[in-house]
Formats: sequence, C-alpha cells, structure tokens
Amino acid sequence: MSLMLLARPTLRLSLPLLPPRTATRAMSATAPARADPFKPAARVAGQRKDVWSIVNEAAAASPVQPIVNMGQGFFGYNPPNFVLDAAKAALDRVDCNQYSPTKGRPRLKKAIAESYSPFFGRQLDPETEVTITTGANEGMLSAFMGFVEPGDEVIVFEPFFDQYISNIEMPGGKLVYVPMHPPKDGATKTTSAAEWTVDLKELEAAITPKTRMIVLNTPHNPIGKVFSKDELKAIGDLCVKHNILILSDEVYDRLNYVPFTRIATLSPEIAKLTLTVGSAGKNFYATGWRVGWLIGPEHLIKYVSAAHTRICFSSVSPLQEATAVAFEDADKHGFWETAKKDMKGKMDKFNAIWDELGLPYSDPEGGYFVLVNMAKVKLPEDYQFPPHVADRPRDFKLCWFLIQEIGVAAIPPTEFFTDKNAHIAEDWLRFAVCKNDDVLEQAQDRLRALKKYLQ
Ligand SMILES: Cc1ncc(COP(=O)(O)O)c(C=O)c1O
Repeated sequence: MSLMLLARPTLRLSLPLLPPRTATRAMSATAPARADPFKPAARVAGQRKDVWSIVNEAAAASPVQPIVNMGQGFFGYNPPNFVLDAAKAALDRVDCNQYSPTKGRPRLKKAIAESYSPFFGRQLDPETEVTITTGANEGMLSAFMGFVEPGDEVIVFEPFFDQYISNIEMPGGKLVYVPMHPPKDGATKTTSAAEWTVDLKELEAAITPKTRMIVLNTPHNPIGKVFSKDELKAIGDLCVKHNILILSDEVYDRLNYVPFTRIATLSPEIAKLTLTVGSAGKNFYATGWRVGWLIGPEHLIKYVSAAHTRICFSSVSPLQEATAVAFEDADKHGFWETAKKDMKGKMDKFNAIWDELGLPYSDPEGGYFVLVNMAKVKLPEDYQFPPHVADRPRDFKLCWFLIQEIGVAAIPPTEFFTDKNAHIAEDWLRFAVCKNDDVLEQAQDRLRALKKYLQ
C-alpha cells in the first residue's frame, strides 16, 4: 500500500491520517528487545496443514504419474474464446493496466447490474448496489471486516467452505456452527443432495443477541445442494425476526440443475439484510483471475467497499474489463446455457463409474462437486499412512490411498466440518468434475481398480 501511495499521492486524501512513525520508532529504542521476533500472530500460528497442500503434495509425490487430479475445484480447460480475447485486448489498453476505482470498473459494475437485474426482479444500481472484489473470497472477507466486531457471532452451516472460518476470525468474529444433516441412507444408496437438511429449530437455537451474520452457500460446496425456496424463506424470515445480516455465497449460481432461488429476492425485508456474492472465476472458468463481486443494498455495500479499500485498495484491472465483456456478450454466445449443459453432462458422465462400482453418491443439484460414499471400500489393515494422514479421519486415509494406489486425487470433506462433527463425512470423498472429458474417462478407468477393495 505504501509504495502505491507514493506513486499516487492524491490517494492519501481518502485514507485516515496516521501518527508520525518516526516518533514511535524513537521511543521504542529504549524498550527491551522482543524475545522471539519471528513469533507469528495467533491468527496464522498453529494452523494444521491445509487440505489443498496435503492433497496437492501427495498428488505430486504419488508413484502413479501423472495423477488425475479431481481434488481442487479449478478448471481443466480455458475460459471461452470471447472471454480470453477480451482479456488479451484489455492488456493492450493503457487504462486497463492501471489502478481501477476501488469499488470496481464502472463498465463491470454496469454489466453485472444488467445481468443480475432480471434475477432480482428490479433494476440494480451499478454505482451503489454492486462492488467488485478480488475474488469472492476477498469479497466475503470485506463483508466480515465491514460488519463484524470482536465478539460478534457469525452462524455458518457445516460443512462449510473452509475460507469462511479464517475470514470470520480475522475481525474477531466468533463462529457458531449449525450442522447440515446427511441423507439417512446415504451410505447404502445414491441420494439427492437435496436430502442434506438444515433443522430450523437448531438454527434458531443457535441465534443469540450477539448473532450478527449468517453465511449461506447455494449451490453448496461440497454438498451440491441447491437450497429450496421454502428453506431460504424460512431462514430469511428468521434473520428478519432477529435482525441478522445474510451473506449469501452464490458463486456457483449459473450451475444449477434444479430451480435456483436467490434469498435476496424473497422479500423486501430479507433484501435489506442480504449481501449476495458472485465470482468470475466460477462463472467463466477462470479461478485464477480473482475477480468477484457483492450485490446488495447501498447501506450494506458501502461498508463492504470501505473494507475492501483498506484490504487491497482495488482489484486486477484488465481482468475486470474482460469480465465486463464476458457478461455483456455471454447471451450472444449462448454461454450460460452451454456452461450449464456441459457441466451437467460432465457430472452425469463421471458419476456413471459409481453406478458401475456400486458406490452410492449424493447426486448434486448444482455446482461441480460430487460427494461419493466410500464406506464399502476396505482399506488394507496393514497399510502405512504418513503421520499427518494417520491422525486424521478416515476420509484423509481414503484420499491418500486413492492417490497412491489408484492415481486419482479427491478432497477429504471432513476438512469442511468441525472436529466434533467430522464423523458425519468420514466415509465420503469430494470429486471435482470441471475437467476435460478425457480426464474424466481416465479417472473412471483408474477407479475401476477399486473393485478389488470393495466389500
Ligand atoms: C463456496 C465457495 N465460495 C467461494 C469460493 C471462492 O471464490 P473465488 O475463487 O472467486 O474467491 C469458492 C471457491 O472454491 C467456493 O467454493
């Protein structure tokens, strides 16, 4: 930030005045030396190795190479040409290589407002109701930074997208978990992702006077559930009753295979409390672009923007411009229909292997992840797992075994649960199907080797 300010002195005006640093430095010369200058802050210290590192490192070290990596949710193919061309063209423009306004490029905000107004049933104001962020993730961090004070409680459903947790803890928020209940017979037969349910009584019991916000995710990662209109209305009404903000993470909003409802559209009272989150990475197969946005009423959006300004000032310019073109031209290319049809095709094509093997899965209603139940897979009794896998739940062992012996990587979903509730998911693995068809076929070929471990 400081280098940037040197380059653009006029920006100083928009930032709070800081006390002169030299004075503080001079006084501290007499203070005793810090015992451990390398001691990290508590918010990053003592964290377990994250699941992405475990799986990617195990994949790189597997004797089966190259591994078929169906773990992390990155695409195995490029954005469509009209989107890529827009990015290339943006790089040739002087203004696109410089800072964008902190709230986002006007063209992108307008394109998003145009694209989303029909879903919201009213004209969104691009200047006050849309703000651009560095991916959905930084957008959500900005929302928490904008509204959560130390000690405020934030309700999160389990399983959760792991980044929510540190993003809520960063401003001092206290996490309150409410479990989603798995289908009762999910271990013995294929069920629908709709059968993962929220108990409204449990949700209401989790609400206290300190509850500030609730985080929703639909279509859901990792479950693939699309919350029904009735479920959302009930959750939204509870939030209205208790004056709780709603952060609705809808990054997979164009990949719904059943009707999709946006909670912000269910009543004016709910809309007033709701911030809706989106991601160009998920919409346009470009997770590395780091372009996201929040849509909501002005009285919420302005504080998200204020936090975003403090966190990273503004987001990557050429790719915002390219995302604007992507939204403007998507309909012309029939992109949204193709994207949905292609992903559903991949999902059905890949899941045929589970039908063939007789392994039950939770059939997704949206998104690009499928949870497969591996209770029937018997791991060899004497199998040696490395210590960082041996002390984790069974899904980590299944994951390790698949990488080492079968050559396919998946994600252990207990990572998306608290330790207390990890048992709910210890027989499941999450596979991402946003890969080329030949990769899906190769995965299927390899997974046939699981037959000899089935009981
Ligand atoms: C549910 C959910 N929310 C948010 C994100 C982050 O989106 P972005 O890459 O735009 O930061 C992800 C990425 O995997 C996700 O699965």
